[in-house]
Amino acid sequence: MRFDIFTLLPETFAPYLQASILQKAAERQLLHFHLHNIRDYTHDRHHTTDDQPYGGGGGMVMKPEPMFEAVETVLGAPPPCPVILLTPQGRVFNQTIAKELAAYGHIALLSGRYEGVDERIRQHLVTDEISIGDYVLTGGELPALILIDAISRLIPGVLGDPTGAEDDSHASGLLEYPHYTRPPTFRGWDVPPVLLSGDHARIETWRRKQSLARTLAKRPDMLARAPLTAADEKILRELRD
Ligand code: ADE
Repeated sequence: MRFDIFTLLPETFAPYLQASILQKAAERQLLHFHLHNIRDYTHDRHHTTDDQPYGGGGGMVMKPEPMFEAVETVLGAPPPCPVILLTPQGRVFNQTIAKELAAYGHIALLSGRYEGVDERIRQHLVTDEISIGDYVLTGGELPALILIDAISRLIPGVLGDPTGAEDDSHASGLLEYPHYTRPPTFRGWDVPPVLLSGDHARIETWRRKQSLARTLAKRPDMLARAPLTAADEKILRELRD
C-alpha cells in the first residue's frame, strides 16, 4: 500500500510513522510512505502557500498553484489514485471507508492548514473528501495519520496475527467481545469460567453474545447496519426482554 502525503508539516508525520508497527511494515515493504512538502512547490521568494480570501473575511486560504504542482509533479496529471482532502466537510470516516481505501493499494492524502483551501483544489484536483468526525482541528495532519493507521492495519501482513483485524470492534459491524489474560483472578475479580473451559464452541457462543450485548448497550445504532443471523436476532430479543 502506497501513501503520498502532501502537507506543509511533513515533520509532524515522522514520529508516529517511525515509532510503531507501521515502521516495521514499511521496512518489510508492505507499506510505502512518501511525504511531500507543499512549500517545495512554490516559486516566489517567500515560498507563499496561502493568501487572503477574495471577498474579505478572516483567515487565510491555501493557494491552488503549489497544491496542484505538488500533486501533479509527484503523481502525474491526472493522478492514477484517489486524491483525498482531509476536511471537516468530507464524508465521515469509518471502518467501511477504511476497507474501501485499502483496496486501492495507493492513495494520496492532502492535509490542509489555515482556514481552508481554494475551492478549485476541491473541484479539479481532489477526488474524495474525508472528515474524521464532527469537530474542527487546526489541520489535516492528524486526520491523515488516522486514515493511514486504520488502512494500514487492514493490509495483509501488517499486523503480526493474520486474523488480527477480523474480530476488531467495527470490522464485523459489532463491538468486540471482552478480552482477558492471566492471572485468572486479579484482586478477587475472576475471568469468566467459560474462557478457561477449553470448549471452543461454547467460547465462540459466549463471545458472540457479549458482542451483541455490548453493541446493544453502547452503540445500538450499529445493530441496524450489522449483518445478523437468526441466532443473533434471538439473542438480541432475549437481551432486550
Ligand atoms: N481538518 C480539520 N478538522 C478536520 C476533521 N475533523 N477531519 C478531517 N480534516 C480536518
